[in-house]
Amino acid sequence: MLGDAVYKRLRLSNATVMASDISITEDWLEYGDVRDFISIRKQIVNFKPNLIINLAALTDLEICEVAPENCWLTNALGAENLGLISEDLGVPYVYISTAGIFDGELETYNDFHVANPLSVYAQSKYYGEQYVRSSVKKHFVLRAGWMMGGGPKKDKKFINKIYQQIRAGAKELYVVDDRLGTPTYTIDFANGLCNIVESGLYGLYNQVCGGEASRFDVAQEFVRLLGLSNEINVKIVPSDHFNLQYFAPRPASEKLVNLKLNQRGLNLMRDWKVCLHEYAEVFKVDRIGGVG
Ligand SMILES: NC(=O)c1ccc[n+]([C@@H]2O[C@H](COP(=O)([O-])OP(=O)(O)OC[C@H]3O[C@@H](n4cnc5c(N)ncnc54)[C@H](OP(=O)(O)O)[C@@H]3O)[C@@H](O)[C@H]2O)c1
Repeated sequence: MLGDAVYKRLRLSNATVMASDISITEDWLEYGDVRDFISIRKQIVNFKPNLIINLAALTDLEICEVAPENCWLTNALGAENLGLISEDLGVPYVYISTAGIFDGELETYNDFHVANPLSVYAQSKYYGEQYVRSSVKKHFVLRAGWMMGGGPKKDKKFINKIYQQIRAGAKELYVVDDRLGTPTYTIDFANGLCNIVESGLYGLYNQVCGGEASRFDVAQEFVRLLGLSNEINVKIVPSDHFNLQYFAPRPASEKLVNLKLNQRGLNLMRDWKVCLHEYAEVFKVDRIGGVG
């Protein structure tokens, strides 16, 4: 999701980019596994980068609960591996963390609030965040919220899950309103990432879209933007409705505020509704080409 936006943003600035992933879905990607220190080190050293951006992760919370070892190796050891290489080469390192590291006891979290991760995914990401902050001098740790981006083919998260139900003909969508967060558009996040890196102001930053939302708010707005409000009913259900499907613990609120970015004049994130308006266009085009 994010890799697509970051790659395209970097190419716009004429950067020479070596992009890797464990699944090769684009001709601009080469194979790379962040768990494998020796081979990823060789790839990176050969490329001679002046910046390393780690976007690799296992992001499915349920998979992380049932396969914790791989989750720790990818999200925590992967963060450490690339951190060691960055330190060794003396180049800045960008690591992406998540709003999911909080326990939801507060409603809104700024850059300084103390984390208490509930799920295996969140624990592994928090480990990565702490490692990078304590061991890599030139670090940027950017915390994202509910990611949206990549369109029908790459978006693995909420918007595309809703869209795939619509595409399959659903006339009723069941969505929770007791989970709060801040949508985070990959295009804005990639712009912000470059802006923060160019500032040279190392450190940790919350970076989410403006505004706040429940899952219900996002689904309802998305259906409205697709012009389907009269055809599709978005029904509120409590989160225990999905206990079997989404069994990983999730905080009641993972709303972030970009306190540091605002104070430093580095906040490029637009309001989530503005971003969703832009993003929905991709799905409208897909619908015309799809079931209509
Ligand atoms: N998605 C969210 O809602 C969200 C929210 C906050 C923060 N983040 C963070 O944002 C960053 C980017 O995630 P994303 O949203 O762009 O999710 P994504 O689309 O799943 O991207 C992560 C990529 O990493 C790949 N990967 C998995 N294991 C790997 C390994 N061992 N070596 C190299 N690549 C590997 C994944 O491949 P496979 O698809 O084959 O697994 C996937 O292509 C991650 O650090 C994530 O934790 C995401």
